[in-house]
Amino acid sequence: GPMRVAVVGATGAVGREILKVLEARRFPLSELRLYASPRSAGVKLPFMGEEIPVEALPEGPLPVDLVLASAGGSLSKAYAPRWVEGGALVIDNSSAFRYEPEVPLVVPEVNREAIFRHKGLIANPNCTTAILAMALWPLHKAFHAQRVVVATYQAASGAGARAMEELLTETHRFLHGEAPRAEAFAHPLPFNVIPHIDAFQENGYTREEMKVVWETHKIFGDSSIRISATAVRVPTLRAHAEAVSVEFAHPVTPEAAREVLRGAPGVEVVDEPRNKRYPMPLTASGKWDVEVGRIRKSLAFENGLDFFVVGDQLLKGAALNAVQIAEEWLKGP
Ligand code: A2P
Repeated sequence: GPMRVAVVGATGAVGREILKVLEARRFPLSELRLYASPRSAGVKLPFMGEEIPVEALPEGPLPVDLVLASAGGSLSKAYAPRWVEGGALVIDNSSAFRYEPEVPLVVPEVNREAIFRHKGLIANPNCTTAILAMALWPLHKAFHAQRVVVATYQAASGAGARAMEELLTETHRFLHGEAPRAEAFAHPLPFNVIPHIDAFQENGYTREEMKVVWETHKIFGDSSIRISATAVRVPTLRAHAEAVSVEFAHPVTPEAAREVLRGAPGVEVVDEPRNKRYPMPLTASGKWDVEVGRIRKSLAFENGLDFFVVGDQLLKGAALNAVQIAEEWLKGP
């Protein structure tokens, strides 16, 4: 039956989007509670024509059946075990639990069955990984991916609501002849691209880049695919773009790949370069489906394809995927 639902981090970029997705998809809930930091207590957020007050997150368990958490890794690490203890299913958008073997990491279009192995906690993947998986998984099933090289063009939204605000205000400053400042990013983002997201690792890759490797392996249940990523922040607001090169075990043509992707749920093939139609952040923003296009035969790999995929970071990259996990959980195995 209908469930009591809590959104933790409700005032954040992802949290606000979760409210919209719950509303748009008519998620069966009997009660909705919104939590954020004490700074936001008393703020009201719109939901189904009502104004719901935001509460300061309490220390203990939450009086709900389902928690959708999007308030950062350290908060989830500390609080999620208490919510689980209190009897709630927790779907966590942070990276706090993604690599724990007993925690399912789920993109429903790929590994829906993993949902039902949960022990109270399900992890929502990194946004770049989720968007890549939507295009890569159907192609992998059809042609068996062996090597993947991906370069990303990641929007400000991946760094949260303040980061989106920073892109707007600092662009404004730049246009008025003032030097843009950087707080949410390592460098000013306006009119720049920054090849640095999350912390650098021993191997020279960033943690964001390694998330694509680790999480794709876990979601696909296949660690044999060799993946290299370059993750780059660009001055777009809320959709991530990715240039992807894949070498497959089996012969593949762009037309066969388009055919496979046309039948893939959650994917929209946008691939008419002559009509100037291809995936872009401007067209993918606000969409549930990810756009895939520029599909062409690789000049570098045998049995290879190059393509471009763009998805709304706040939707398939975060809020939508989390709500879809909850929907599938309700439907049962
Ligand atoms: P608040 O708006 O009150 O700071 P984003 O990723 O867009 O920056 O959003 C982060 C979300 O996490 C916000 O809703 C933020 O609430 C919430 N948050 C941050 N720190 C805490 C905390 N200590 N307790 C509860 N919620 C928090």
